[in-house]
Amino acid sequence: MSSYKIIDHEYDVVVLGAGGSGLRAAVGLSEAGLKTACISKVFPTRSHTSAAQGGISAALGNMGEDDWRWHMYDTVKGADWLGDQDSIEYLCKEAPKAVIELEKYGVPFSRTDDGKIYQRPFGGMTKNYGNGIVQRTCAAADRTGHAILHTLYGQALKHKTEFFIEYFALDLLMKNGACKGLIAWNLNDGTIHRFRAHTVIIATGGYGKVYYSATSAHTCTGDGNAMVLRAGLPLQDMEFVQFHPTGIYGHGTLITEGARGEGGYLTNSKGERFMERYAPKAKDLASRDVVSRSMSIEINEGRGVGKDKDHVHLNLSHLDKDIIESRLPGITDAARLFANVDVTKEPIPVVPTVHYNMGGIPTNYKAEVLTVNGAEKTVPGLMAIGEAACVSVHGANRLGSNSLIDLVVFGRAAAKRAAELIKPGMPHEEISETETQKCLDRFDKIRNANGNVGTAELRLSMQKTMQSKCAVFRTEKTLKEGVDEIRETYDGLDSLSVKDKSLIFNTDLVETLEFDNLIRQAVVTVDSAYNRKESRGAHAREDFPNRDDKKFMQHTLAWCDGKNTKISYRDVHKSTLTNDVQYFPPQERVY
Ligand code: FUM
Repeated sequence: MSSYKIIDHEYDVVVLGAGGSGLRAAVGLSEAGLKTACISKVFPTRSHTSAAQGGISAALGNMGEDDWRWHMYDTVKGADWLGDQDSIEYLCKEAPKAVIELEKYGVPFSRTDDGKIYQRPFGGMTKNYGNGIVQRTCAAADRTGHAILHTLYGQALKHKTEFFIEYFALDLLMKNGACKGLIAWNLNDGTIHRFRAHTVIIATGGYGKVYYSATSAHTCTGDGNAMVLRAGLPLQDMEFVQFHPTGIYGHGTLITEGARGEGGYLTNSKGERFMERYAPKAKDLASRDVVSRSMSIEINEGRGVGKDKDHVHLNLSHLDKDIIESRLPGITDAARLFANVDVTKEPIPVVPTVHYNMGGIPTNYKAEVLTVNGAEKTVPGLMAIGEAACVSVHGANRLGSNSLIDLVVFGRAAAKRAAELIKPGMPHEEISETETQKCLDRFDKIRNANGNVGTAELRLSMQKTMQSKCAVFRTEKTLKEGVDEIRETYDGLDSLSVKDKSLIFNTDLVETLEFDNLIRQAVVTVDSAYNRKESRGAHAREDFPNRDDKKFMQHTLAWCDGKNTKISYRDVHKSTLTNDVQYFPPQERVY
């Protein structure tokens, strides 16, 4: 038996993660009278949601006519027909309610002259089914995620959610295919905690840090995704990794798409607005996959800017100073700080940078985790929301500002579903000690790793492989090299060295546990990409340049046991909840 002393807790629901989705779920659960714990490895207001800049989409119609059906059409098209249409319908219909709720909670949105929530144009958001740009993205200047996160944390405290802050989750506790809780390590005092819960809601965000250059925070290591893989459950559509067109060159910091929404535009070394050639109607406001690919083509064909011709320019200096000051203050600072650029005078050097994972833990629109055993079935006691989940509203490519709305709509949906399933104070089942022991054995093995390779070295090797072999454009050759190289890095786990053996604020051990989580996700990402022999959304295969709806209008499911994966597929949900709208058959995507 393990030598770790275990502190036990019982909750109706445990939410893992305190970003926008986790906090929105926690507020709803606590409001419903469920005893709720929210566990986070960082202080809640430091969660990565705070980095979301440009805004949150909802067809409020504050700046002109809008309709949730147009929003749904744009989302289905943006997703390149890989999104589940029942979930997309739910998202777009519920979005206006969810934003008004945020307004009532106190989110300080920017305002129009007549006091309504200000909405800006964003890529791929159109009116009347692709006929013109719509202003649908509700904004709090260019710090929308920050504003939402702080407001929701205040609401969660008000509703008496119990927080366990700076606790690192290790593994789920499973019993006969159902989730019964989780184990976490308290970074502050080194104690180990076992949480029993009728439902665990995973809200741990994306895993951008498998790549070398990403807009993601260092904490974006997809810990919940890896816990799901270790529980023997699949991840879905992991090959779809979004590159945001405008990361600051050489640094990766995000420059919001809102900058183009406010009138900014991209140019190449000839000073050409090249997006006019690739997307004659939407131009710089085409969907992100289209803009990132166009930028990469410009660079690959020698029309990039700078000494190495390896980036392009984002121009804002023609915009009104008032607009820059009131609506883009955050990126004005970021450009000055990280690129030494005064946006009122010079262009910002930008390059496509990893930003978002469309893939994640498969769920239905009620946030219940799915697995496939012949047919789709839900995993009792387990839910997932936010970027950790693949619900799947973003399919093969997410539209900008559809992430923040996904967080709050499905955070709310998870709370509602849990309140239907759980009666406050219901008794907990016994869990066998073997599950706890299995989790602590892994923890102990990593903590006591005594090899000769440091975590940073392995992480760098993984990040470089993913950056070069699973990039904006992919081929059989690069992906096969990626499949092999990532396994060589995986094998490095056997030679790992963790120098600090202590249990209190041991960042060496935290980073190693995070690496162990990342490398599994890297393996399933590159394997899923290798197996999808078509181009769709963010997955652009030079050797299979067309979308193949006959073979691949299907979600990839990937299981992983160590470095061995099993890949399978499940059908996209074509039917909607009410059948008053449905966007099939797939069309050609023209912007
Ligand atoms: O460009 C941005 O402001 C990012 C928004 C998003 O990813 O939704």
